[in-house]
Amino acid sequence: MKRRKFIKNASLSGLGITIGGSLKSCVETSSDEANVNKSKAQLPLVVATWNVKSATAKAWEVLTKGGSALDAVEEGCRLEEANENGQTVGKGGLPDRDGNVTLDACIMNAEGNTGSVVYLQNITHAVSVARKVMEDTPHVMLAGKGAEKFALTKGFKKENLLTDASKKAWKKWAKTSQYEPIINIENHDTIGMLAIDQQGDISGACTTSGLAYKMNGRVGDSPIIGAGLFVDNEIGGAVATGLGEEIVKTVGSFLIVELMRHGKTPQQACEEAIKRIVQKPKSNYKNFQVGYIAVNKQGEIGAYSIHQWFSLTAFQNGRNQTIQSDYFNKNS
Ligand code: GLY
Repeated sequence: MKRRKFIKNASLSGLGITIGGSLKSCVETSSDEANVNKSKAQLPLVVATWNVKSATAKAWEVLTKGGSALDAVEEGCRLEEANENGQTVGKGGLPDRDGNVTLDACIMNAEGNTGSVVYLQNITHAVSVARKVMEDTPHVMLAGKGAEKFALTKGFKKENLLTDASKKAWKKWAKTSQYEPIINIENHDTIGMLAIDQQGDISGACTTSGLAYKMNGRVGDSPIIGAGLFVDNEIGGAVATGLGEEIVKTVGSFLIVELMRHGKTPQQACEEAIKRIVQKPKSNYKNFQVGYIAVNKQGEIGAYSIHQWFSLTAFQNGRNQTIQSDYFNKNS
């Protein structure tokens, strides 16, 4: 599958982003570190998992026009969902073992409301269906055929999400059907996005086609509130990418927000959530990837992952930047 292009060791100089002090081994910040730690982040801002600069630029455009954080994260995620070249989100996502493209997504607003869709088929914009679930139903989660039926009643277009490229990749895989329950660390890039608007309100969203060649019916962390995403407008927000099973087991995004509530910076909280995974007895963390990003109410940003090719795209102060930090670099 295609991998996103990553930029290593981006300098934080002049960013105006406040990052926790423990990133030194991962990002070349030595001369700037004191300054970035002291500098006050400016609002609005948007951050996203992976190097999705077009998506963060789109969200930034919404924010600078005075739009809400909720609109910004939805618009940003929609851009990636429509990008057929991305094979882990929306249209063009890699299918399950039986050739079905099934999407998971969720969204959460500043009032603490949330909506999600699970195992959604034939609809590109899962994040927007999740928003409709939040706004137009008494429920928080719709799954499968029910979610699709709901989307159609809301005017979403029915589409074949299996593109020629993804079909080809699946057919090639199907020749051996060799499925590794231990995820390949290159095999995931759920789009998770957090934004703070000009009013200081926080919202978040995430969207994915899930683990490639997963078992039919498998659901990951992305539609599970508290695992794939959590926002508390008084405290901050967190969003996850990577092997959903591990994120669900540690309720990672909720954990990060609670750690921030108890005084940790977003960076410290992300690092603690990754440690909960890698320090589990018999953890086989060397064989899978998990990454988190977080923001707090002050606009401070944190990002941490198990392996080094997780990157964070931050659009703040009118500039799109890529940042990396990971457990392996820090501990080897
Ligand atoms: N993080 C997305 C998934 O595991 O499905």
